[in-house]
Amino acid sequence: MTIKLYVDFGGYSAIEKGNLIIPRDNILNKKDFDSVEIGDVVDVYSKRGKFLGRGFKNPREVRIMTLRKEELDENYIKEKIIKANEYRLKLGFKDTYRMVYTQSDWLNGLVIDKYNDIATVQIFNYGIEKMKDVVVETLQNLGIDSIYEKSSGRNRKRAGLPEVEGILAGEKTETIIQEGNAKFKVTFDGQKTGFFLDQRENRLELERFIKEGDRVLDVCCYTGGFSVHAAIRGAEVVGVDLSKKALKLAEENMELNNIPKDKYEFIEGNAFKVMEEFIEDGKNFDVVILDPPAFAQSKKSLKSAMRGYHMLNRLGAKLADRLLVTCSCSQPVEPDAFKALVIDACLKAKKWAKIIKYGSQSPDHPITSKGTEYLKCLFLSVEEI
Ligand SMILES: C[S@@+](CC[C@H](N)C(=O)[O-])C[C@H]1O[C@@H](n2cnc3c(N)ncnc32)[C@H](O)[C@@H]1O
Repeated sequence: MTIKLYVDFGGYSAIEKGNLIIPRDNILNKKDFDSVEIGDVVDVYSKRGKFLGRGFKNPREVRIMTLRKEELDENYIKEKIIKANEYRLKLGFKDTYRMVYTQSDWLNGLVIDKYNDIATVQIFNYGIEKMKDVVVETLQNLGIDSIYEKSSGRNRKRAGLPEVEGILAGEKTETIIQEGNAKFKVTFDGQKTGFFLDQRENRLELERFIKEGDRVLDVCCYTGGFSVHAAIRGAEVVGVDLSKKALKLAEENMELNNIPKDKYEFIEGNAFKVMEEFIEDGKNFDVVILDPPAFAQSKKSLKSAMRGYHMLNRLGAKLADRLLVTCSCSQPVEPDAFKALVIDACLKAKKWAKIIKYGSQSPDHPITSKGTEYLKCLFLSVEEI
């Protein structure tokens, strides 16, 4: 019999609001929670006995998979992966896209990215981990040759699961993807899942705003995502990143797109320090792009994260003559709060900023329930006050 766990969220049910990860702290009958094997199916009920959802027990939380009383078996996993893939194909994605985005695709704790015939898999749910073979088999039936697992990082630690990394099938560990007019080499031993697919639309959008001869500063450039799109449009690019490995790939990506060597420079260094030095030296750029890592991993670190974003944006605004493209991938940072922060940082930098466009994550990362929207990307026209 499936164990019943009762939760007390008070007021609205968190599940109805769409939060499909239930921490042990919210469970009333903790002894029952502790008695269940990790990876086993549990049913979650409200205090008054209303069925809320069904999911898998994990060491520190329940991951809700469905709001129906249906079997969470191999068929469920297979069908949901196929459905998630079909959804992307209908949207027009072809070779490279996020194929499964966790709870948005009713596969809470599973992320799959497809790069041509290679897939990367991240699992943050022990119930799904137990059926890893089905994930591999389903991907192979969808034409995937090589599968690389990258179940590591914050989400894995938070779930209380050990980190797992390595090849699950095939041998390929790199490929060349096409994004609009740009080509990128993607490898699967770097950070995240090889490439920041979530920024696709924003990188493509950037091309609209670049003019031949523009001087562009790409801060936190990683493997040159925004840099390559700017260079393709005839800009001269300076990219800054802490990661030597990422910058090496950024250079390869410029070569791959036939960008002449004298049109770009990549600097290994701390974004804050490099920008301060540029300001001291009286440098400026037509376009400045800021795409830092998530400064706020949770609500606890929100305050210090906001200070970090403010400082970064003030420096970026000082250096920008015409356009500031600024992003935050911190889920706890609300879009309106980020807009207000950026406008304020621009004012402090003595720049009058107008929001031209507000972008979020690419639609292969569907925004559904609470916690699935995280990326904010503002395009601002800036002028001296
Ligand atoms: C979200 S990624 C950028 C993705 C990139 N814009 C793209 O489209 O592929 C953030 C990058 O910031 C870099 N980074 C983190 N902290 C940094 C710092 N203090 N200074 C410079 N780079 C930093 C990381 O190495 C990582 O490559």
